Amino acid sequence: MIKCEDLHKTYPLGKGAGYPAVRGVSFQVRAGEFTAITGPSGCGKSTLLNILGFLDNPSSGTYLFDGKNVGAFDDGRRSGLRLTDIGFVFQSFNLLPRFSALDNVCLPMLYAGVEKEAAAARAEELLARVGLAGKEANSPIKLSGGERQRVGLARALANRPRLLLADEPTGNLDSKSGAEIMQLLLELHKGGLTVIMVTHDQSLAKLASRIVRMKDGVVEP
Ligand SMILES: Nc1ncnc2c1ncn2[C@@H]1O[C@H](COP(=O)(O)OP(=O)(O)OP(=O)(O)O)[C@@H](O)[C@H]1O
Ligand SMILES: [Mg+2]
Repeated sequence: MIKCEDLHKTYPLGKGAGYPAVRGVSFQVRAGEFTAITGPSGCGKSTLLNILGFLDNPSSGTYLFDGKNVGAFDDGRRSGLRLTDIGFVFQSFNLLPRFSALDNVCLPMLYAGVEKEAAAARAEELLARVGLAGKEANSPIKLSGGERQRVGLARALANRPRLLLADEPTGNLDSKSGAEIMQLLLELHKGGLTVIMVTHDQSLAKLASRIVRMKDGVVEP
């Protein structure tokens, strides 16, 4: 499903050559795999995940998603693909605080052109699936950290993505809520979803079908 070759990402700095956060990453992910990416802080995990999720562009190298050379797409086509094919779960949830849980989950569907009623029905179903039935009207402020991440997960699933990316989804959670989120990710994987998760937690990484270790901007062999 994913094939990257010699990906580089250099962040521009005021002057000089810039900071090389990703320095030649080549790896593949097959459909249906659950990949955990681990490695020390600053080694480029989030940078890589953002590239894989079309949130950022590599400075060089090729990224094939389903055989499509995404680097050659214009921004509009890339964001279209991101909306329909990729679900992204963030460490700090990134929910809209003024919206209800239901509306947070509806949003990506509305962007994708789904009718309001259909979006609300699916959002309700997704919230029930992540264990939040009855909390649809709560705004994120009125939810616990673990519940917020459940909303984040439901939102990521809204448009039936082919690939779920999660950047330390349990990083801001206590161990019990973290384990529950991990359980949901494992269930989704069992149902056939391809998952890539960045984590510092070795005990969670071990539950994945495969561990990819990064160091200093590269994937360790
Ligand atoms: N926008 C940016 N501009 C300049 N440098 C950046 C930018 N974003 C990240 N970096 C640098 O790139 C390197 C990799 O950052 P990245 O966030 O990918 O690391 P990470 O492996 O996810 O770390 P952590 O485990 O702490 O989340 C770091 O040294 C960071 O300081
Ligand atoms: Mg990170």
